Amino acid sequence: MNLRQLESNFEALAAEDPLWTILSDDSKRGGKWDENAFYKTGESVIDDLEARLEKIGFPLGGYSAIDFGCGGGRLTFPLSKRFNNCYGIDISSNMVAYAKCRISRGPNCSFIVNRDTRLDFENESIDLAFSAIVFQHISPRYTLKYFRELSRVLKPKGLLVFQLPSRLNPQFEGNQKPFRQLRKQLHYRLKAVAQRIPFIESQSFFEMHAIPCERVIRHLETQCSFKVLGCQDFPAAGPAWISHLYIARKTSPVS
Ligand SMILES: C[S@@+](CC[C@H](N)C(=O)[O-])C[C@H]1O[C@@H](n2cnc3c(N)ncnc32)[C@H](O)[C@@H]1O
Repeated sequence: MNLRQLESNFEALAAEDPLWTILSDDSKRGGKWDENAFYKTGESVIDDLEARLEKIGFPLGGYSAIDFGCGGGRLTFPLSKRFNNCYGIDISSNMVAYAKCRISRGPNCSFIVNRDTRLDFENESIDLAFSAIVFQHISPRYTLKYFRELSRVLKPKGLLVFQLPSRLNPQFEGNQKPFRQLRKQLHYRLKAVAQRIPFIESQSFFEMHAIPCERVIRHLETQCSFKVLGCQDFPAAGPAWISHLYIARKTSPVS
């Protein structure tokens, strides 16, 4: 999917059921998420992030943070308790509108629609960029550009922390059939093609992407001025995927 398709896909999903689009638990489909319970899940994610960073000697906090692919602000609001300013960025205006309506959950948050791989922030202005369950839906050619752009906006020694799957989980029963990976890729490609044909009634769906760890680390370290401090297990993409939390520190300005 290109960015325009990704945007219209998430706009449609967010218009229909924003909370289920973010946390796609089958039992919560159709507006069944309790809003407080939904936002509580974000607090545990950020508590866990804080513990992971503390373990490697980096306290979670500072002047400014970005939550990339913020959705309804589930992670932006708890993050904003540790920062003076917190910016939630999302490609979907419906998601941003939803988050803005809940600004009382984090009055120092700003929510911004961003439809491009360029981010509207000054060079070296941000202490932390965080993202969870977002890059897995974005085609790798864009994800790699976002990493470079996030490096541009981070201060030297700023942290980029994000979740991304590296591959399908071979232990997961549904992945054990032959050619499973190939079939999945074909399925996504056909869906993306169908979306471009106006007379085909195509539904919005979650495209899934993985990038092998070695490729991510090489890109971060050779193209984006990061030193990768950690690549930890982080099963946020569900049992079908092997997924990681990357912790990277900016070493020098991006040329
Ligand atoms: C599954 S939701 C996760 C939301 C949030 N990170 C959370 O965990 O609560 C994925 C979000 O990423 C956003 N998104 C997808 N592609 C994006 C892009 N290229 N730029 C910014 N946001 C994007 C979607 O609109 C959606 O709100």
